Amino acid sequence: MSRFLVIHGPNLNLVGIREPGIYGAMGIQEINQRIAQRAEELGVDCEIWQSNHEGEIVDKLQQARGTYDGVVLNAGAYTHYSIAIRDAIAAICLPVVEVHISNVHAREEFRHRSVIAPVCLGGIFGLGWRGYLLALEALTAEIDERRMEQ
Ligand code: DQA
Repeated sequence: MSRFLVIHGPNLNLVGIREPGIYGAMGIQEINQRIAQRAEELGVDCEIWQSNHEGEIVDKLQQARGTYDGVVLNAGAYTHYSIAIRDAIAAICLPVVEVHISNVHAREEFRHRSVIAPVCLGGIFGLGWRGYLLALEALTAEIDERRMEQ
């Protein structure tokens, strides 16, 4: 069975309360329930974890190596400047899908740049909480395909 890790970065614990016009009214608990439900439907194992701290996210990514088959990562604001998170993704050699709830390209210019995008398998932005489910589906298909090719 494939095992995936979903990481919510800084301030994503406040989704539902935080700027609902941008991030939607659904709270993080409900988003997490939907992720867990989709994981069950896909027949995959999924851990969901949140941290506001850059170093903790680096630690978690490092630990993911050997434990998980892939990672869904919403690095929040760290997306735009954390070389430490980018280097951790590059180091672990796991497929990572970058997710953003909002359409970062329709917002302030500083959100247009992702320093993690070049080391991720791909990314989803602007599709709200559904982006997490789509990322999980994409990773499941990717890992199934890699296994078939082996
Ligand atoms: C975000 C977009 C980031 O620019 C922002 O700093 C966030 C959330 C998103 O999910 O849309 O915290 O990653």
